[in-house]
Amino acid sequence: MNSNKALWEKGDFTRIADSMRASGEAFVQGLGITKGLKVLDLGCGDGTTALPEAKLGADVLGVDIAQSLVEAGNRRAKEQGLTNCKFQEGDASNLEQLKEHTFDLVVSIFGAMFAPKPFYVAREMVRVTRPGGRIVMGNWIPGDPTLVAQILKISSNYTPPPPEGFISPMTWGIEKNVVERFTAAGVSADKISFERDTFIFNYAGAPSGFVDEFRKYYGPTMNAFAAAEKNGRAADLQKELEALFESQNQSEDKTKTSIPATFLRVTVAV
Ligand SMILES: C[S@@+](CC[C@H](N)C(=O)[O-])C[C@H]1O[C@@H](n2cnc3c(N)ncnc32)[C@H](O)[C@@H]1O
Repeated sequence: MNSNKALWEKGDFTRIADSMRASGEAFVQGLGITKGLKVLDLGCGDGTTALPEAKLGADVLGVDIAQSLVEAGNRRAKEQGLTNCKFQEGDASNLEQLKEHTFDLVVSIFGAMFAPKPFYVAREMVRVTRPGGRIVMGNWIPGDPTLVAQILKISSNYTPPPPEGFISPMTWGIEKNVVERFTAAGVSADKISFERDTFIFNYAGAPSGFVDEFRKYYGPTMNAFAAAEKNGRAADLQKELEALFESQNQSEDKTKTSIPATFLRVTVAV
């Protein structure tokens, strides 16, 4: 069994992705996409950024490890009449189905960071990008005080320690690690740049309702609750997450949720 695939096929990430659509659109607006640009959206989920890329005229391939999300992406593209946006299954650690130097732009928003073997991931992203092309990643930052890093931090206190040799996805939010991985893939360090950026999670209910969405539909949180239940600690986890979501909610109407989360935006000129 591929545990990485199983994690993301668990639950229904589209429920969380629904809260990220506006920021996905805004992020894509800043990518300088022109008609006919060949874009790979890696760890694309159900197309939060892939669909907006296609709407700007790019020729988009979305690749994701989760079959359920690939199907959801293809369905959404069809519903929106986007014939220039296709989704297929694949693993960011090994993109064997893709030829080298194929894409002008490789985008991975909170996607490839979750694949195992980060050095392979960097090598694969560089390999499929054409010389003169770009890679743009969005990666959550370990220890950051905002939403996603805190969800993952709180959850880790309820789950068993990872197996030996496991490399945390959050290391993609550390500049030194990112530079190591891309330089090992043949990119010179001065071609790698970093910025802090923000995604806003919008949910049409109160923060406690949004916690429930994570509990029911977000694989990593589902696993944390499963582990916490075994130890009789699920209520504590629920309480900690509700306190987090409430304290970070910036919506003036407290029956709704709007939470910003900071991430590291990585740009690599290939
Ligand atoms: C947090 S979601 C983000 C999805 C999407 N980029 C978005 O912004 O909505 C992480 C995504 O990475 C995908 N993923 C995880 N490991 C992967 C791997 N090894 N190869 C490709 N995709 C992967 C998951 O299936 C999931 O769709």
